[in-house]
Formats: sequence, C-alpha cells, structure tokens
Amino acid sequence: MEVETLESHLERHVEDQRLRKLISSFAYISLDAQHHFPKYLRGTLGDKNKYGEAVAKLDEWVNGYLCDSLVKTGLVAKIYSEELRQPLIASANAPFFVTLDPLDGSSNIVTNNAFGSIVGVYAEDLPQTGKRLLASFYKLYGPVNTFVYSIGKGSHEFVKHYDSEGNAKFLLLAENIKVPEPGEVFGLGGDPLEWDPRFLKFAKDLFRVEKLKVRYSGTLVADFSQILHRGGLFAYPSSKKSPAGKLRLVYEAQPLALIWEQAGGASWSEEGSLLEVYRQDVDSRIPVYFGNRHLIEKLQKALS
Ligand code: F6P
Ligand code: MN
Repeated sequence: MEVETLESHLERHVEDQRLRKLISSFAYISLDAQHHFPKYLRGTLGDKNKYGEAVAKLDEWVNGYLCDSLVKTGLVAKIYSEELRQPLIASANAPFFVTLDPLDGSSNIVTNNAFGSIVGVYAEDLPQTGKRLLASFYKLYGPVNTFVYSIGKGSHEFVKHYDSEGNAKFLLLAENIKVPEPGEVFGLGGDPLEWDPRFLKFAKDLFRVEKLKVRYSGTLVADFSQILHRGGLFAYPSSKKSPAGKLRLVYEAQPLALIWEQAGGASWSEEGSLLEVYRQDVDSRIPVYFGNRHLIEKLQKALS
C-alpha cells in the first residue's frame, strides 16, 4: 500500500487551502534550512536575545531564513519570533499570525544532538489564549527529519524521504498519535534544589512509584517527542529563583500543548491547561507540565 504524503493528508483533513499551503510550506522550508546548518555551527554572535540568552550564529541564521521564507509565502501577516525583539510585520492582508521558536534547543548545536523548530498559527493578532490556535507544528532535526502537525483534529507525524528522482517528500509515519499508557519516561528541567519540595517528592515518586525512566536532552522538541511516543511526563516547573519557569508560553508551550492534548495527554501550567492561559505579554514564560492524564492528576494533588 502507498504511504500517504503530507500534501494528500492535508488535502483530506484541512479545509482551508491557505492553511494547507502554510503547513506544507513550513515542512519544506525547514528542510531547506537544515541543508545550511553545517555552515553556521560554530560560535556565538556575542549578542543576547530578549531573554538575556547568548545568540548562536545558527540561531540568528535560522531565524532569518525561516522568517524570510514564511514572508515569501504571502500567507503571513505578522511573525512573533522568540529571536525578534519586535514582531515582524509581513503582508498586511495575509490571513495568518504566526509564532516561531526558530531553533529550539540551541545548547545542543555544538554537541550534535537533536534540536527543532516550533510554530503556532492564529487567525487573529496576539495576545490570544492557546485555545485560539488554528494549527501548530514542529520539526525535529534528529537522525531523521520529522514533522508533526495538528489543527485540533488529532496529531499526525510525517518523515522526510527521497523519491527515485532525489526529491524530498514527507510521508505519513503516525496518524492520530495516542500517548501510550501508562507512560514510560520522564524529563524534568531546572534545579531540583530550587523546586517546591512537594514537586521534588513527586519527581522522586516518578522513579520509585511510577517506575519511569529518565530522559532529558535539553531540547524541548526532542524531549516532547519522547513522551509523545513513549508516554510519561515532561516538566519545566516553577522554582524559587524563576517562579514562571524557563519555557515560553506562546513560542513553545502552547503550540506543543495543542499537539499533546490532541494526542490524549494533559497539559498544565499551575493554573489550568496550558491552552487556557492568557498573557498580555507575548514573551511571557510559564511553568510547563505535559503528562499522561493520571500523572498530571497526581501532580495536581501533590501540589495542592
Ligand atoms: O528553548 C529553551 C530550551 O532550550 C528548551 O528547548 C529546553 O527544554 C530547555 O530550554 C533546556 O533548559 P536547561 O538547559 O535549563 O535544561
Ligand atoms: Mn526553545
């Protein structure tokens, strides 16, 4: 049986032809970007981004490449990027407002571990809650190049292949992904000595009671992909030093929360589902918890 292409899948599941075009364009744009990665692997620019983090050469190059390419689709009115101090105003009458984490997991550039790109798509300008996401998708630049998207009708994964003429195409790898039960792995970010002691106890129970195995790569997309396929829990919790945690609500947490919840998992922000959170400041950070439902319920009890 022929394996379905991304284009055919989008054709069957996404009514809006412009949204189809945006989703498939990004899958190929980010693929083109990856071909250039080797040129920009070494060094930082000596600049800090709006979060005070050092900007790697690759961070800046990927951001520029993805933004330019998204603008060229003519489908994007504004791009909010983790690496831009101000949103990029693109085509005034274009239908979509896009959020972008161009290079998620930059600390893994020098170590040649996996990193990714994360995109959220809205019909209206931000700020919005994550409930207003029309679509979200991520690319994982791992040993193989995978692309996962959701428009709120399940979450679907594709992998890059080459056809006999050497042209890249994305073929369906997993349709309607369901987070496996009861879950197998967990990854927790931050400094355990700074965590709420109740969270520390919960974390120990992930070993002792739930018998989960540790998996933490330092790239959100890669750690997210682990729990999406194996079940378990990922968290970057609040801490004494950083009550809002480290991860970004709009660029990282909410696009992945749509994919996660569509795969049957539960997300939490210490105040509700990550999708329900609204912050006036688009650059806000947020504590992030993605888990199998029973694990998120246990966590909520542990912290209450
Ligand atoms: O984008 C921020 C990020 O790099 C995520 O990809 C990752 O989950 C996290 O930060 C890693 O943070 P730390 O280095 O503190 O573990
Ligand atoms: Mn990131």
